[in-house]
Amino acid sequence: MTQAPYEIDVMISAKSIAARIEDLAKIIESEFKDTDKLVVVGLLRGSFVFIADLVRELDLPVEVDFLEASSYGDGMESSREVRILKDIRGQIEGRDVLVVEDIVDTGHTLHQVMEVLGTRHPAKIKSIALLDKPARREVDMKADYTGFEIPDEFVVGYGIDYAQRNRNLPFIGKVRFT
Ligand code: PRP
Repeated sequence: MTQAPYEIDVMISAKSIAARIEDLAKIIESEFKDTDKLVVVGLLRGSFVFIADLVRELDLPVEVDFLEASSYGDGMESSREVRILKDIRGQIEGRDVLVVEDIVDTGHTLHQVMEVLGTRHPAKIKSIALLDKPARREVDMKADYTGFEIPDEFVVGYGIDYAQRNRNLPFIGKVRFT
């Protein structure tokens, strides 16, 4: 795929992300303080960096699982079709679950994933997203916990890609086409 040249400006620094995750971890710990073993479900691929940093801040017994859903192609357009490409490995009936998303954009992915996992009768299910872009919302959906609300900019880094690049940037960057 040919891409227009672009540069990346820092939108949220690695330091700010780390500080926010410390705060979020405290909130999650209090929400799940009585949970025997929390199932933390990362939505692949974008959440892999966030979930790694988040679980290491959690002073709680956790089990880590992953689910892959897809709503984007390789470009910037979001389709409404959400496909489950890879399901979680574990059973969640009667368990406490935290779904970890990198970004809530149109809201379709998180909405549908929460619906699907909800049908499996977890005792409690909550969601957390590092980023929320409310201007793009198409369904009435908000994560229970959000790291940062951001404007309608095209962002990359800290797990988020543009055509499968830039996931490894340690910060959230804004794409600027040059
Ligand atoms: C992106 C992102 C979120 C989802 C948000 O995932 O990581 O999971 O889209 O969009 P929505 O709110 O409009 O549904 P993507 O499908 O690009 O897969 P990836 O995580 O593998 O990059």
